[in-house]
Amino acid sequence: MHKYVLFLLFLKGHIVSLEQNNECLVPNQHKLSDDIICGVEYNSSNHQDISDVYNAHSTYATRRTGTIIKDFLLVTVATNQTDGFQRFIRSANVYNIPVKVLGMGRQWKGGDMNYAGGGFKVNLLKEELAKYKGDNKIILFTDSYDIILLAGVDKILNKFDKFDARVVFAAEGFCWPDESLAAKYPTVQRGKRFLNSGGFIGYASEMYSIVTSSEISNTDDDQLFYTNVYLNEDLRNKLRIKLDHKAEIFQNLHGAVGDVELRFKGSEAYLQNTAYNTNPLIVHGNGLSKLVLNSLGNYLAKSWNPEDGCLSCWDNTLLLEDKPVESYPTVLIAVFIEQPTPFLEEFLNKIYNLAYPKNKLHLFIHNFVDYHKELVDKFLSKYGDEYKSLKRIHPGDRMNEKEARELAINYFQMKSCDYFLNLESEAHLDNPHSLRLLIEQNRSIVAPLLLRPYKAWSNFWGALSSDGFYARSMDYMEIIHNERRGLWNVPYIRACYLINGTVINNPETRPSYDYDRLDPDMAFCANMRKKDVFLYVSNRMDFGHLVNADNFDTTRTNSDLYQLFDNRWDWEQRYIHENYTENFNPYKTPEQPCPDVYWFPIVSPRFCKEFIEIMEAFGQWSDGSNKDPRLIGGYENVPTRDIHMNQVGLEPHWMEFLKLFVRPLQEMVFLGYYHDPPRSLMNFVVRYRIDEQPSLRPHHDSSTYTINIALNRPKIDYQGGGCRFIRYNCSVTDTRLGWMLMHPGRLTHYHEGLPVKGGTRYIMISFVDP
Ligand SMILES: *[C@@H]1O[C@H](CO)[C@@H](O)[C@H](O)[C@H]1NC(C)=O
Ligand SMILES: *[C@@H]1O[C@H](CO)[C@@H](O)[C@H](O)[C@H]1NC(C)=O
Ligand SMILES: *[C@@H]1O[C@H](CO)[C@@H](O)[C@H](O)[C@H]1NC(C)=O
Ligand SMILES: *[C@@H]1O[C@H](CO)[C@@H](O)[C@H](O)[C@H]1NC(C)=O
Ligand SMILES: *[C@@H]1O[C@H](CO)[C@@H](O)[C@H](O)[C@H]1NC(C)=O
Repeated sequence: MHKYVLFLLFLKGHIVSLEQNNECLVPNQHKLSDDIICGVEYNSSNHQDISDVYNAHSTYATRRTGTIIKDFLLVTVATNQTDGFQRFIRSANVYNIPVKVLGMGRQWKGGDMNYAGGGFKVNLLKEELAKYKGDNKIILFTDSYDIILLAGVDKILNKFDKFDARVVFAAEGFCWPDESLAAKYPTVQRGKRFLNSGGFIGYASEMYSIVTSSEISNTDDDQLFYTNVYLNEDLRNKLRIKLDHKAEIFQNLHGAVGDVELRFKGSEAYLQNTAYNTNPLIVHGNGLSKLVLNSLGNYLAKSWNPEDGCLSCWDNTLLLEDKPVESYPTVLIAVFIEQPTPFLEEFLNKIYNLAYPKNKLHLFIHNFVDYHKELVDKFLSKYGDEYKSLKRIHPGDRMNEKEARELAINYFQMKSCDYFLNLESEAHLDNPHSLRLLIEQNRSIVAPLLLRPYKAWSNFWGALSSDGFYARSMDYMEIIHNERRGLWNVPYIRACYLINGTVINNPETRPSYDYDRLDPDMAFCANMRKKDVFLYVSNRMDFGHLVNADNFDTTRTNSDLYQLFDNRWDWEQRYIHENYTENFNPYKTPEQPCPDVYWFPIVSPRFCKEFIEIMEAFGQWSDGSNKDPRLIGGYENVPTRDIHMNQVGLEPHWMEFLKLFVRPLQEMVFLGYYHDPPRSLMNFVVRYRIDEQPSLRPHHDSSTYTINIALNRPKIDYQGGGCRFIRYNCSVTDTRLGWMLMHPGRLTHYHEGLPVKGGTRYIMISFVDP
C-alpha cells in the first residue's frame, strides 16, 4: 500500500512538472499545428490504470523516489489528422501521456510510405531534438497512424530502465528495407533480430547524436538510416543502443500476429505476447498488419471490455435529439437497386418511415431493375414530393452501378449535403431511428450492423483473407450475435453506411469506386483503408436486417411469396397473421366452433390475396371430374375444382409452412400426436362457384388431420358456403379471412362443403399425414 502511494505521488509530480514547463497546451485536436498535446484524464473513473496487469510499478517507484524525476516526452510525426492519428491521440489521452506532434498540416515529404521512405520523419525529429540535446529528457518516438499506446509513462520508463541502455529500438522479424544487411546483425537467442524504426525510446542527448550522425534526405528511408547507425558497432556501443527483441515495450505486428493474444484482466483488455511471455506497452501495425491493429484497437487502450462494454463508443458523439429540428444536418439518402430484390416494398416503406425531418432529406435512387420499376414509380409518385430533392435513374437509362455511385457523390456535393447514407436494396432499416443514431455516432464512416436473420451473413467482414476477400475475425460470431456490442473498426462494410460530408468534401478521401479490378463495394473500402479512413460497423443497437437477394426468381406471380426459404423473417412479417403468436397464449383456449374442429388465425390478408392471384394467374383449374391425371392412380373419388401446390411451384414451400406454422398448433390441440415433419400429398386451392362446382358431397379425407384455410370472405366475396360436420350436425359458415380450421380426417369428421350461392369462394386444403 505504502509503495503504491509513492508511485502516485511520482506520477502527479511528473505531470505537474510538465505544466510548469508551460509547454503543455490544452489538447485541442482542431488547432493542432506544431503544438504539444497534453495527456488528459480520459473521461470516467472506469479508466483507471490497472496496476496488477503489469506488476512493475512498486519497485520502480521505490527506486526512483528521492532521485531527480526525469522529463518525458512522446514525439510523433503526422501530417494529417486521420482516423489512425485520432486513435493514437486517444490512446495517449487514456494513459495521460504528453505528446508532441511534428509536421501537422505540413506537406508530407517522405515519399510513399508503402515503399521505402520516411527520411522526413528523421529530419523533423532532428529539429525537435536540437531543443533538448543537453537535457536528461527521455524521448519516446513513435509513428502515429498505426500505433496504439497501451500503458502510461511509468510503465514505459520502468521497462526502459530495465534495458540498461541509452536508446532502445523496436525489433521485428524482417530485415527491411535492405535484406542484405541481415548478416551484419548480432545474433539473438530469442526474439526478433532486426531493427524497426516505428518506435524507439532513449535519452535526448543520445537520440540527438543518432539523428545527426549523418545526413538524410526527406525521401531516404528512415529505417535504413537507423539500421546503419545500429549496425555501426562503435556507435552502437558508444550510444548504448539496444533492440527490444522480446517486445517488452514495442510490439510490431507484421510477421508476429501469431505471437500475440488479446486478453482481458478485470475491466481492461491487454496484449499478451505468448512467444516471449511479455506484455507489450506499445503496439505497431506495421507492414501488412494494419488490419490486425484495427481489430485489436477495438479493445485496447480501454476501448472495450466485457464488464463495461464499449467505452470508446461514447467518444466524440453528438446529440441531435435535444436540438431544434431545423438545425438537423441534411442527408442524401442514396438508394441502389442493382438486382431484383425480395420485399422491396417494405424496404422503401422503411426509408419513408425513418424518423427524420423530410425537408432535411434528399433522395437519390438508382434503379437498375425493370422488375422493380412499377413499385419504385409508385413509391416516388406517392412520397417523392416530400423530400427536399429527388434524383432518380431509371432502368431504361442503363447506367451501371459504378457510374451511378459516382453520380450520387456528385449529386451530394451539388446539393451541399452534410451526410451521405448509402443504402442498398437488401438493407432494411427496421429501426426508424437508425439515421439519427448513425449521425450521432459521429464517425467518418459508420455502418449499422445488418444480418440475414438466422444466418451468419452480415454487411461487414471482420478480417480479410490474403487475397482481399472475406475472412472470419476472432470476434465475428460474438459481434453478429450481439454478445459483444460496440463500434467496430473493420476492413469491409457494405449495403448501408453513413459517410460524413467531411470525408466526401476532402479531395484526398472522396469516395472512389475504382481500385484495380475490384467490384465497386470492395473498391470503395480498399480506397478508404488506403486513406486511413476507418470503416466502422455498429451493433450498439439493433438497426435492421439484410434481405437475401441471391435466388430471387422474378418470373413468378407474386414472387415474394416464394421466398419462405431465403427470407423467412420477411416472409413471416408479410404473410403470417399478425395474431398468429396469440394462438400460443397459455391464458387463452383455442376456439372450437364444432367438436374437435379448431380454429386459428394463421396467414395474413395479404397472403390470401396474393395466393389467389397466383392461382388465377396460373388458371389451370381441374375439371371436377373423377379422372385426375395429377394423382398417382389417376382417379379422384371426391373431385373438386382445384390447383395443386406442385402445379405452381409451391410444394416445398407448403411443406415448410406445415412444419413451421401448422405442426406446432396441431401438437397443442391434439395432444400426444407428434409427427415431424408433417407429410402431405394433397395440397390444393379449391374454387367454389355456382357455374362450376358450388359444393362438395359428404366425405372423409385421407388424412390424420385436415387443414382448411379461408382465403376470402363470406357475405362479401361470396354468398353461402361453409363446412358442415355431419356427425355433430355442426357447420362453420362465418369463416374468417386467413383463419384455418383443423380437424381429424377420418371416422368422426365426416363432412361436406356447403353450396355457394353467389360469387367465388377460395379455400386452401391440406391432408396432413395420410
Ligand atoms: C493531408 O494534409 C495535407 C496538408 O494539409 C493535405 O494536402 C492532404 O490533402 C491531406 N491528406 C489527407 C489524406 O487528408
Ligand atoms: C465529431 O468528430 C470530430 C472528429 O473526430 C470531432 O472533431 C468533433 O469534435 C466531434 N463532434 C462532437 C460534437 O463531439
Ligand atoms: C461530420 O460532419 C460535421 C459537419 O457536418 C462535423 O462537424 C463533424 O466534425 C464531422 N465528424 C467527423 C467524424 O468527421
Ligand atoms: C389481432 O387481434 C387484435 C386484438 O384482438 C384485433 O384488434 C386485430 O384486429 C387482430 N388482427 C387481425 C388482422 O385480425
Ligand atoms: C341440425 O341443426 C339444425 C340447425 O342448427 C337444426 O335445425 C336441425 O334440427 C338439426 N338436425 C338434427 C338431426 O339434429
